[in-house]
Amino acid sequence: MDDLSQLVNHQVRLAARPNGLPKREDWSFTTAPVVEPDEGGLLVRTLSLSLDPAMRGWMNEGKSYIAPVEIGEVMRAGGVGVVVQSKNPSFAEGDRVTGAPGVQQYWSVGDKQVARGDVSKIDLRAGTVEQWLNVLGMPGMTAYFGLMDVGQPKEGETVVVSGAAGAVGQTVGQLAKIHGCRAVGIAGGPEKCAWVVDELGFDACVDYKAGDVKAGLKEHCPKGVDVYFDNVGGDILDTVLTRINRKARIVICGAISQYNNTGAVKGPANYLSLLVNRARMEGIVVFDYAERFSLAIAEMAGYLKDGRLQSREDVVTGLETFPETLLRLFRGENFGKLILQVATA
Ligand SMILES: NC(=O)c1ccc[n+]([C@@H]2O[C@H](COP(=O)([O-])OP(=O)(O)OC[C@H]3O[C@@H](n4cnc5c(N)ncnc54)[C@H](OP(=O)(O)O)[C@@H]3O)[C@@H](O)[C@H]2O)c1
Repeated sequence: MDDLSQLVNHQVRLAARPNGLPKREDWSFTTAPVVEPDEGGLLVRTLSLSLDPAMRGWMNEGKSYIAPVEIGEVMRAGGVGVVVQSKNPSFAEGDRVTGAPGVQQYWSVGDKQVARGDVSKIDLRAGTVEQWLNVLGMPGMTAYFGLMDVGQPKEGETVVVSGAAGAVGQTVGQLAKIHGCRAVGIAGGPEKCAWVVDELGFDACVDYKAGDVKAGLKEHCPKGVDVYFDNVGGDILDTVLTRINRKARIVICGAISQYNNTGAVKGPANYLSLLVNRARMEGIVVFDYAERFSLAIAEMAGYLKDGRLQSREDVVTGLETFPETLLRLFRGENFGKLILQVATA
């Protein structure tokens, strides 16, 4: 066991609410002592953190599906860590666990948090630490429930997904293939598009940065679009709406193109396509499916094992790089699930 008195907890806190893209001054770096957990609690050392587009939304004031991070609070982040001290019989030192440690090196988990299930053990035989933050973690669960429960794909249908080379998108397209659909991605740049087709087995991918998304969809979705899994919103959503079939399902998972707007979010001008096509558009919040995560994880772990599912993670090292690393998501610089590695063991 570590000598706690020798340890310092380095943390990243929200210092100001950003206007547009977060700046370095919107964050503060602090240290705190590392303290023994209370009876029933745990002390967890952070190994890797999940950097998510949603973090941008948590920095804003106002009502959402989760409370905003308050100014001065340690920034919220999901992650994987190792138990360094346990006062709870269900956990042992050395256990790898997942939860929401926040952007800090040590996470003190109280007995009530443990009882509530805020922290759970992970099995590294099912996937690596990185995969537990990707396909077996929150993005994978989003892809699974967003596609299967909201998108409801049927064999032979065409599923289009934007952000196709990102964390959620890579799994959506592969699940669509597993379920006998035509999978068409939309992603930025030839390298990402080539990867989703050549490595992940998507049928096609439209490079939205190269130009005409509408023409690309026309070419690659000859029978129209039955399910559109939207990760980006904005113009791309508007364009896909012009190609949907009767009874199409539009899964509103995210709108990263809009998260740093200083003005209003751009809504879809072509929404009457829903009327004409008797289609529906429905949002998904992954946390609503928490009770079913373990079943979905087991299924996804099976696909990883039999090779039907692959994953790609983009790992950056060092807690101190957090402010710059987060921005990679909004610049399209991440290739695969963006992870911040804080420690290796
Ligand atoms: N509803 C939920 O419960 C839930 C849960 C998890 C994630 N999400 C949402 O799902 C979406 C994807 O999240 P993720 O974690 O998988 O991120 P990600 O796709 O791994 O990373 C973000 C990607 O978005 C693309 N992007 C950035 N700016 C863009 C723009 N202006 N227009 C088009 N594409 C842009 C970039 O890819 P390119 O290089 O291809 O442009 C970038 O790599 C986000 O909107 C996120 O908020 C929702």
